[in-house]
Amino acid sequence: MAKTTSLEDIVSLCKRRGFIFPGSEVYGGLSGTWDYGPLGVELKRNIMQLWWKMFVDDREDMYGIDAAILMNQKVWQASGHVDTFTDPLVECSNCHGRFRADKIDISKCPTCGKKNTFGEPRQFNMMFKTNIGPVEPKVIVSWTEGEQVIPGSISGKYDDEAETSRVYLRPETAQGIFTNYKNVVDSFYPDLPFGLAQQGKAFRNEISPRDFVFRSREFEQMEIEYFVHPDNWEAELEKWRLQTWEWTRALGLPDDQVHELDVPESDRAHYSKKTIDFEFDFPIGREELSGLAYRTDFDLMNIQNNSGKNMEYRPKDGGKAFVPHVIEPTYGVERAIMAVLSAAYTEDEVNGEKRTYLKLPAHLAPVKVAVSPLLKNKPELVAKAREVYATLKKEFGSVMWDDNGNIGKRYRRQDEIGTPYCVTIDFDSLEDDSVTVRNRDTTDQERVAIAELSKKLK
Ligand code: GAP
Repeated sequence: MAKTTSLEDIVSLCKRRGFIFPGSEVYGGLSGTWDYGPLGVELKRNIMQLWWKMFVDDREDMYGIDAAILMNQKVWQASGHVDTFTDPLVECSNCHGRFRADKIDISKCPTCGKKNTFGEPRQFNMMFKTNIGPVEPKVIVSWTEGEQVIPGSISGKYDDEAETSRVYLRPETAQGIFTNYKNVVDSFYPDLPFGLAQQGKAFRNEISPRDFVFRSREFEQMEIEYFVHPDNWEAELEKWRLQTWEWTRALGLPDDQVHELDVPESDRAHYSKKTIDFEFDFPIGREELSGLAYRTDFDLMNIQNNSGKNMEYRPKDGGKAFVPHVIEPTYGVERAIMAVLSAAYTEDEVNGEKRTYLKLPAHLAPVKVAVSPLLKNKPELVAKAREVYATLKKEFGSVMWDDNGNIGKRYRRQDEIGTPYCVTIDFDSLEDDSVTVRNRDTTDQERVAIAELSKKLK
């Protein structure tokens, strides 16, 4: 049964405790952008590192790459993004609010409430455009007698210089992988099947960014293009389906909140012959967490046809060369973060008081251990606690020194950010070289010898 955590609970905790802040907030914000604070950046890194370990480091058939975000515009022409990476846009003739036609009931404007104010949807391309080099795009406005050129304008038909210097911020990391497929084949001679993995930023000019980081204009993807023989795509897709379940479990997401959706042809991306969406019961409802697509040889063939370079794979046993087909498991970092936080967000009662805590898997927790002297005005306690802190910090890295407020308040604060253990140094510690270790989930406390501490906390 899904929990009833609200999105507001998560957003408010993230802001209050320094996980995620609205982008450019000090200047009134920038819609669809988010900034990561000290704890958010740790959580995000832990998720991304876990992914890299599972899907690259722990396997023999995977190779990592890190391609440039700015790519030759031919990449996006060949991939079909220039023509088809669009959402249907409608505008209200009364209040001029703009919406995605497939996300609203277009009989009535959701902003001003007026009926029948929308015309036919037009296709809005979601790629962010810019120009490379010292070019100031000029828009050409035509009227009956001739043309007028307006420097720096942002819409309309552009002059030739602006068109040829056009670059897009990548809307998916995948194309940086496809364009490097041949480089890796030529430098590593991998056995097929093999995969290339990349993590990095992607940008989409979403018509309606919404639901916290769920639909942002700037976000991160973790993508794999797995190159297979065309006869084996079904078997390989099945392996990646099972691998994706391993991933959701490693994120601590309960199986009964994760669902597969076999995406019907009409909803599939232009390059896909089969797509399974992995959905999660987010506080906003059941929505896409990650995707798994069979992209056929669509991308490599497009590159071969448009670049004139041969994309064939030559089997080492002398078999016939062929253009590999591709299975693409794709994971959004922000959606993983939102799912992890939603699954971890827990409320209970301790000694008659309501408690909020993040029941994060220890390997994802932004802070692994918090260390406190029982009293911060007793130099001998502070000195001992500092020693323990320094030792643990060397070993665990993300260890927090916390001497604010009384010990009860410290525990609550650490619970709220998901710290699995709190270590407290008291007067007995000075005598017996042991400390109190308090467990986040059970709130149980036990005495542990300092010499045994690192074993206990692992
Ligand atoms: N290369 C395939 C591809 O990009 P996609 O389904 O468009 O496929 C993959 O995106 C994943 O990226 C999604 O499953 C989602 O997790 C994430 N994603 C897509 N758009 C997003 C957005 N606007 N904000 C946050 N995450 C997004």
